[in-house]
Amino acid sequence: MTSTAAVPTYQADIYTDEALLEPYEHYRALRDLGPAVWLEAHGAFAVARYADARAVLANTEDFHSANGIALNEPANSAILGCTLASDGELHAHLRQVVAHRLTPRSLRPMRETVTARADELVAGLVERGSFDAVADLARALPLSIVPDFIGWPQEGREHLLRWAGANFDSFGPMNARAERALPQCGEMAGFGAEIVRTGNVLPGSLGASVLESRDRGDITTEQTMMLMLDYLAPSLDTTISAVGSAIWLFGRFPEQWDLVRRDPGLIPNAVNEVVRYESPIRAFGRLAVHDTEIDGVPVPAGSRVLVVYAAANRDERKFPDPDVFDVTRADAVQQLGFGYGEHGCAGQALARMETESLLAALARSVTRFELGEPERALNNLIRALGSLPVTVHTGA
Ligand code: HEM
Repeated sequence: MTSTAAVPTYQADIYTDEALLEPYEHYRALRDLGPAVWLEAHGAFAVARYADARAVLANTEDFHSANGIALNEPANSAILGCTLASDGELHAHLRQVVAHRLTPRSLRPMRETVTARADELVAGLVERGSFDAVADLARALPLSIVPDFIGWPQEGREHLLRWAGANFDSFGPMNARAERALPQCGEMAGFGAEIVRTGNVLPGSLGASVLESRDRGDITTEQTMMLMLDYLAPSLDTTISAVGSAIWLFGRFPEQWDLVRRDPGLIPNAVNEVVRYESPIRAFGRLAVHDTEIDGVPVPAGSRVLVVYAAANRDERKFPDPDVFDVTRADAVQQLGFGYGEHGCAGQALARMETESLLAALARSVTRFELGEPERALNNLIRALGSLPVTVHTGA
């Protein structure tokens, strides 16, 4: 489709290395241009204002996830029919097969394990004094918790981080990052299919219950393969991003760390504020299935619509002083970093548990994070640090 005079347009490619390193000025420009802005470089509308982003996420009649999540056709075809990329009854059915295992109540028995692992990990790192907050802290906990929870076999785990990163890269426009990623997504899908064929999952795990659903005839074999990856693919890089960003932010804003140390009851809100301020997933797409409009901007059927959570979370129309990191912010809980509505993150209770446990363990002993030079890991969707040298201080 072509843009019309009534539709604000934006020329810049928001997926270049430079734009991924410094995205926030692009987000501001998009918000200021209008409720929906035609991205010339990507052939899609961007929705960057909070109220409009939330309205699009809530409007599952007009905006579909099937064929809509990614900005390119090969990726949309590859994931068609998974929980993330399905709509209506099919989506509700797939979600009901698994999501009940991830509610705060079902996860309660895991809290002890997660807390114990977080405590042990942090004690070792505090003892060392200096470490890499990404490799040694942010990656270590999810990798020690999530694959077991999903029931992924030991063999193949060494590929998980590469595959999970590729999965997110593949959802961008068809740039070099997405091109490199697609074959790796194929490898992950092949491995998932093999697990379903052989039934090689850990007993009692989420994966085992997905196989039981297949055996009962609740889901097809193809849906079983999708569900095996549905929960693993988004569960690592996202949480790793949140934990890495948290350390980076508390290092830069030590007075915020003092608030958390003085009142650890603030930790759940601090996690919301980290996810608001440095949204781990920048955006997911939707497909407009009817002629519609976004706050007056006409959106023809067949258009791609990119909901930019990371821009909505910095919208001054919603959050006062949005560029200030403030763990006491009363409305941080309204951030859209975990999505909103029917497709809102199914794994957020686990992600919150992991992040909160690490921050709680750190708050008991660390008084200051002294940051070295951070290095960004560039990904089409994930806002993350590749490494963050840090020295922790424990004295007064
Ligand atoms: C800080 C960590 C995380 C963030 C920021 C995050 C973010 C998101 C977002 C923005 C969505 C919405 C997708 C949409 O609107 O189309 C989503 C969906 C989803 N997330 Fe997460 N996520 C996180 C951790 C996890 C974890 C740990 C798991 C699994 C254990 C997980 C599993 C899922 C699944 C299965 C969906 C699809 C839900 C659906 O389509 O119904 N996520 N996540």
